[in-house]
Amino acid sequence: MIRAFRFRSLILPLAAIVVLAGCERPPIESVQTGYRGTGMQQLYNQRLLVTQASLNTAPEPAAAASPDGPKAKDVYQNVKVLGELSVGEFARNMVSITQWVAPKEGCTYCHNGANFADDSKYTKIVARRMLQMTQHVNADWKSHVGATGVTCYTCHRGNPVPNQVWFAPADKRSTGALLGDLEGQNQAAASVGYSSLPYDPLSHYLQDAKPIRVNGNEALAMTGAAANRNSTKQAEFTYGLMMHMSQSLGVNCTYCHNTQSFQSWEVSPPTRATAWYGIRMARDLNNDYMTPLTATFPANRLGPKGDVAKVACGTCHQGAFKPLYGAEMAKHHRELLGPLPVTVAAAAPSATASATTAGMPASDASATTGAAASATAATAAPAAATPAAGAGAGAGAVTDNKAVGAGN
Ligand code: HEC
Ligand code: HEC
Ligand code: HEC
Ligand code: HEC
Repeated sequence: MIRAFRFRSLILPLAAIVVLAGCERPPIESVQTGYRGTGMQQLYNQRLLVTQASLNTAPEPAAAASPDGPKAKDVYQNVKVLGELSVGEFARNMVSITQWVAPKEGCTYCHNGANFADDSKYTKIVARRMLQMTQHVNADWKSHVGATGVTCYTCHRGNPVPNQVWFAPADKRSTGALLGDLEGQNQAAASVGYSSLPYDPLSHYLQDAKPIRVNGNEALAMTGAAANRNSTKQAEFTYGLMMHMSQSLGVNCTYCHNTQSFQSWEVSPPTRATAWYGIRMARDLNNDYMTPLTATFPANRLGPKGDVAKVACGTCHQGAFKPLYGAEMAKHHRELLGPLPVTVAAAAPSATASATTAGMPASDASATTGAAASATAATAAPAAATPAAGAGAGAGAVTDNKAVGAGN
């Protein structure tokens, strides 16, 4: 007894020391993102940054291949997207996508080893559509991805299923609730930081185009066109999305907002405009690329409500303010920068000419579609957003990239 007591009297102070050591203030890095005195700083824990950085390192690009020689479409039987590449470039692409998406599984993750032209594996069908999706992001969403662009690795990071995807969550019912629609409230979920906020903000905003609004534009709720229909419910869903965006980028609210007014575009930093496009882009990818693939995926890849895994901010960002901290991987793969231009077989221009024309549409697009920098995006978004805000509850009218482009 006495012995045990003595032992414990030693253990307790030791445990206290261990616990207190855990509270030691980590080295904090503070980065200012706005005017002094506005609280616009990001605080980074340097210890955690080291781990983050190692998770977000881009692999070396495969050795370049010559654009010369016969084209893939003339050599292979069943090539629908990459036919304009030379056979060498085509092989380089296959090696790269294997490294990015299925490094352990290898070529047969997508291919029937006995016949590479065969389309019987669903993974090959999905991969072909993913090639087009990646081209679409890099060519048409420069307002968000800029010159950095994306490759398969941005999302996949060596995994067939990217780390951060989302499904519509199964319906939850609070055991205590007899009446009323909870709208997903008070059911702690990781998607909203285990808070009491509605647990499925992503279906509303990254699939449907519900208005993302908290502040009303009128002082009091009224009827008619001027009514403030921005409800507490909408506010809670909006905050759920904001939590998701902050977590996905590893930043706090003031990375995109000036707390003087969360609503005002005039006082917000340009990052908020980039994020505005990001929301529209994620919605576009989910509705035009992911959801139509639902029937292609086997049942074990679908969510509790039978929907396909979808793209959120974290699917690309994975905790970093720019995916892979801005590593420009896409520029090493012309086949991913946009649909390949069809060259006339008979003309057979010199290799360099075909290589430069191939790069053209993408760089042209960058000059005209305006994302040359987020600075352009910054002016575009507020202009487009103002009418939406003025329309009060009717907002959400401005939903897609093209509408925005046209408005400017
Ligand atoms: C992530 C899926 C995926 C992986 C892994 C993959 N491929 Fe492919 N492969 C495709 C897709 C998709 C096509 C069709 C491309 C198109 O339609 O433009 C294709 C087409 C081909 C073709 C053309 C076949 C024909 O006759 O139509 C060859 C050859 C090929 N791949 C070789 C390889 C090799 C070798 C590897 C391993 C180093 C590999 N692939 C790994 C998805 C994949
Ligand atoms: C914007 C993010 C994103 C990019 C970029 C992307 N993918 Fe995907 N990919 C996804 C999501 C989300 C899924 C659905 C996950 C699942 O399979 O359930 C997926 C699924 C797949 C699958 C099916 C895997 C399986 O086991 O079910 C393949 C194969 C694939 N992608 C290949 C590619 C290739 C090749 C590229 C580049 C040309 C690419 N992806 C680029 C997000 C992305
Ligand atoms: C990555 C950038 C980003 C981060 C981080 C972010 N927001 Fe937002 N926020 C936006 C964008 C973009 C909108 C406008 C969305 C739209 O209109 O489609 C917005 C809208 C809002 C609104 C609605 C304003 C209105 O018009 O009524 C509020 C409130 C808000 N955010 C609060 C927050 C809070 C609180 C946080 C931190 C938990 C946060 N945001 C983090 C980008 C961000
Ligand atoms: C398809 C991949 C992809 C998705 C999905 C995505 N992003 Fe991005 N995002 C990028 C890339 C790539 C960049 C870097 C752009 C550049 O370098 O100009 C970026 C940049 C940003 C920036 C600017 C960061 C800075 O410091 O300049 C913000 C803010 C941002 N994203 C927010 C979001 C939000 C919010 C979402 C979800 C609604 C989202 N992103 C979804 C790929 C993506």
